[in-house]
Amino acid sequence: MTPKTPPPVIKLKGLHKSYGYGDAATSALDGMDLTINKGEFVAIMGPSGCGKTTLLNILGLLDKPTDGEYELSGEPVDAISQSRRAQIRREQIGFVFQSFNLLPRQTVIENVALPLIYSGQTHTSRLMAASKTLRLFHLQNREYYMPHQLSGGQMQRVAIARALVNQPSIILADEPTGNLDSKSSEIIMQELSEIHNRGNTIIMVTHNSRLTSYADRIIYMLDGRIDTDSKVVPKKPDLAAKIPLSAKRRKVNASKKKSTKAKPAVKKVSKKKVVKK
Ligand SMILES: Nc1ncnc2c1ncn2[C@@H]1O[C@H](COP(=O)(O)OP(=O)(O)OP(=O)(O)O)[C@@H](O)[C@H]1O
Ligand SMILES: [Mg+2]
Repeated sequence: MTPKTPPPVIKLKGLHKSYGYGDAATSALDGMDLTINKGEFVAIMGPSGCGKTTLLNILGLLDKPTDGEYELSGEPVDAISQSRRAQIRREQIGFVFQSFNLLPRQTVIENVALPLIYSGQTHTSRLMAASKTLRLFHLQNREYYMPHQLSGGQMQRVAIARALVNQPSIILADEPTGNLDSKSSEIIMQELSEIHNRGNTIIMVTHNSRLTSYADRIIYMLDGRIDTDSKVVPKKPDLAAKIPLSAKRRKVNASKKKSTKAKPAVKKVSKKKVVKK
């Protein structure tokens, strides 16, 4: 008997989202069809206002579509109760925002432990899990710092550690490096690559085309729809995966120049023309 293929992590069909009513209505998503399988690293690009954040919010169950279908791991999302949606958000989805969203009056370790608050674990075991995750990001000596005592890059690494502390299978990142210099961006991207190499699904919105070289699929959105959807064919498969993060970090720190990362070849798998009305 052949094993059953698991359903896609995300499946959208004819998804619409509009805000406001009547003459004041804005269409943020205008009929999106999208399938994302487990383990994909998808970069989403497109001009300001084309619906990228709206899409991530709906994928992350922070918002609801106005029309259309959304299946999360094979389950229609509109049939899921409010309390289970919150549970799925806590347990399966990790959010990384451009603005870090750290609580300013909590220490780094308390910030990272925050998503575990409903997990039923004791305070001590939550802090132990947070500490373990911070160590992954080489921030163990910053555990008792306050967020304002960190650099922008460190704050974003804390935010990513917080997104990962409960081991979610899907990471949704909205311009995770938007507020960072190029060196910090590179470190964050390497960390996201490593998370991806562990089998997690990553969906990342970015305005920076250079960062799409970390993804294995690039989607361009236009006017609330998918304009192009391309698979990235890496020039040297698995090379990035074989370099340990510590070595990569040394390489980044040593390099005073801009990244010389080879631009991967891009193979278009589909192109949907946007019909202007
Ligand atoms: N809460 C809201 N109320 C009304 N309109 C909204 C709301 N949120 C988003 N929109 C509108 O929906 C459209 C898509 O917004 P969205 O934030 O998804 O764009 P984006 O692609 O993320 O843009 P950016 O690159 O600037 O972040 C925009 O026209 C925006 O004005
Ligand atoms: Mg946005």
